[in-house]
Amino acid sequence: MPTIVFASPKGGVGKSTSAVLLGAELALKGAAVTVIDADPNKPVSDWARRPGRPANLIVRADVTEDTVIDEIEAAARRTAFVIVDLEGTASMMVAYAISRADLVIIPTQGSQLDAAQAAKAIKLIRQQEKAFARQIPYAILFTRTSAAIRPRTLHFIQEEFRRYGAPAFDTHLHERDAYRGMFSFGGTLESLNSGQVSNLDAAIVNARAFATEVIGMLRREAQPKAAPAEAGAAG
Ligand SMILES: Nc1ncnc2c1ncn2[C@@H]1O[C@H](COP(=O)(O)OP(=O)(O)OP(=O)(O)O)[C@@H](O)[C@H]1O
Ligand SMILES: [Mg+2]
Repeated sequence: MPTIVFASPKGGVGKSTSAVLLGAELALKGAAVTVIDADPNKPVSDWARRPGRPANLIVRADVTEDTVIDEIEAAARRTAFVIVDLEGTASMMVAYAISRADLVIIPTQGSQLDAAQAAKAIKLIRQQEKAFARQIPYAILFTRTSAAIRPRTLHFIQEEFRRYGAPAFDTHLHERDAYRGMFSFGGTLESLNSGQVSNLDAAIVNARAFATEVIGMLRREAQPKAAPAEAGAAG
C-alpha cells in the first residue's frame, strides 16, 4: 500500500542503495514489496538479476514519464509496499512520482553541496503539495556517514535542516562495504557472508534500524490528524 519514493536531484547520494536496502528488509519481514526502477540506468534491475532476490520482492523497470503514475497505482494495489528509485535529476518523472508518495526519502551525504541539492528536492515536494492539494511527508536520510565519528560539518548541516523544519531520520546509513557488496554479489545483506564483505553484522543492524524508522514514520503519517481546536468549540 504505502509508496516510498527516493528522490534527490543530486547523483550518487545513495538513492538506489537505500531503496534496495529498504526493499530487502521489508521483504525479509514477510511483506510483498514492489521496487519501481524508474532510473533509465536501471541499477535496481541489475541488482535483481543477480542471485538472491527475495521472491516476495518484485522489480518493475521500463517505466516512463507517461507510465510512472499508473505503475505506482497498480503496484500499490498488488503489494504491501511500493518503493520508487528515481534518477538523480529533476524531471517530470520525479515530479509525478513525488505526487503519489506517502513518504519521500531524500538521501544526502554530509556535505554542504549535497545539502543544497536536498533543499531543491524539498522545494519540489512543496510545489507538488500545492499542485495536488495534499501533504507529502518527507525526511532527509544521511548516507555514507562514518559510524565512528560525526564531523562538525555534518553536525552543522543537521542543525540547518532542523532550523528549516526539515525532518531527518535519526538513523544514518553509514558508509559500509556490505551496502556495495549487495550490488556485486546480489541478494540481501542476510544472504551475504562475512567472507564477501566486512562488518556485515553492523551493516544489518544499521539497515534494520532504518527500515524500522521508515515504518514508524509511515504509521505516524497514516494516523488521522487532530481536528483543529475550533471544531470542538463550534457546538
Ligand atoms: N551507505 C553506503 N555505503 C557504501 N557505499 C555506498 C553507500 N551508499 C551509496 N554507496 C555507493 O555510492 C555510489 C552511489 O550510490 P547510489 O548509486 O546508491 O546513489 P544514487 O543516488 O542512486 O545515484 P544516481 O543518482 O546516479 O542514481 C555507489 O557506488 C554505491 O555503491
Ligand atoms: Mg540511483
